[in-house]
Amino acid sequence: MKRPYPGWLAALASGAVLTLSGCASDAPLDTLEPQGPISRSIDSLSDPIFLVAGIVFVVIFGATAVIWWKFRDDHSTDEFPEQVHGNFRAEVGWTVGPAVIMAVIAVFTLISHFDLNSSDRTDIQVAVDGTTTSWDPEIVVVGQQWWWEFRYYFDGLDGVDLSDSRNLPPADIVTANQMVIPTGSEIGLSITSRDVIHSFWIPALNGKRDAVPRRVSPWKIEADVPGVYFGQCTEFCGLSHSRMRMQTVAMEPADFQAWVESQMGPAVAPKGVAAQRGQEVFEGQCARCHVVNGVNDATSSGADLVANAAPNLTHLMSRTTYAGGIFNLYEPNGTLNRPQLEAWLRNAPAEKPAYAEGRRGMPAMGLSEGQIDDVVAYLQTLGEAPAFDIIAATEVE
Ligand code: CUA
Repeated sequence: MKRPYPGWLAALASGAVLTLSGCASDAPLDTLEPQGPISRSIDSLSDPIFLVAGIVFVVIFGATAVIWWKFRDDHSTDEFPEQVHGNFRAEVGWTVGPAVIMAVIAVFTLISHFDLNSSDRTDIQVAVDGTTTSWDPEIVVVGQQWWWEFRYYFDGLDGVDLSDSRNLPPADIVTANQMVIPTGSEIGLSITSRDVIHSFWIPALNGKRDAVPRRVSPWKIEADVPGVYFGQCTEFCGLSHSRMRMQTVAMEPADFQAWVESQMGPAVAPKGVAAQRGQEVFEGQCARCHVVNGVNDATSSGADLVANAAPNLTHLMSRTTYAGGIFNLYEPNGTLNRPQLEAWLRNAPAEKPAYAEGRRGMPAMGLSEGQIDDVVAYLQTLGEAPAFDIIAATEVE
């Protein structure tokens, strides 16, 4: 029986499908679109290596195809072909050639490797509480099932004990899932974890670095121009690993300064009856895990935290995503995405799989619909909405 199509065609088609499925325009996690000097140095290493590997691929498979065709058995003769063994020149050639290629690649790889692991930071001037401070720009990154925390210490990290990631010293700014940085400066990162191993990855700005509990791993990022650079946890870390996303929002230095000022203050006491009732619900329920500075942080009474284990909500509305960067806090027109937020407050594990009973992820709080309305009213008083272009650029699918 004749096959409906030749085997080689099926092989070619499946290969093409696999290759083309890797292509996408505007892919948020594209590793081939560097947006800063660090990622560019990786790109300028991998591009020539890929070129060399491509040439080797074509030569080897080309030669294989020629030999396969030229010496095929076409049944024109019964003679057994001449048998050969060993060819000194060929063997020296295919030993020395690859060795030279590997040595050249190794030299450039090592240069890049040392470059990527060195730090070349310069201080950034930030106004903190009305006085200008020289900040050695370094941000603490804490991975946790299943979200990212970013902590800013404007006095620098010398003397800040990061060894116990469940009990970190109070920071000037604590935010979640969206890390804000100024453009044009190398930003150091100190990456750790509160539970299992995660991996921090903003492909447009640098490669990956694991977030390992009880360890602090140095890393760095830098963005050329303002923009939003998407990231994703890249170490399998449990049920909602794929829903552990993040974004880096790079701003002009002046805009970054304004962001710092807006983040420094504690929460403002809510006006309006619903929001005030919402704060009471928050203090009774949510404050067991979530901090709002000025309400239940270390400097205010009533702190009753479960391992400091949930995102700091002091300036929630200044962020545009939540729940590990998977939900939009705003609609595309800039208004609150109320249905999603209410669904999250109603039954979080139904919206994002979690082992809430094991304190991994937000539990279903059992709030009444009236309480949910009040909590939403309260949350809307926490921080100011960012500029509309940031809401648009940070929108997730
Ligand atoms: Cu965290 Cu995967």
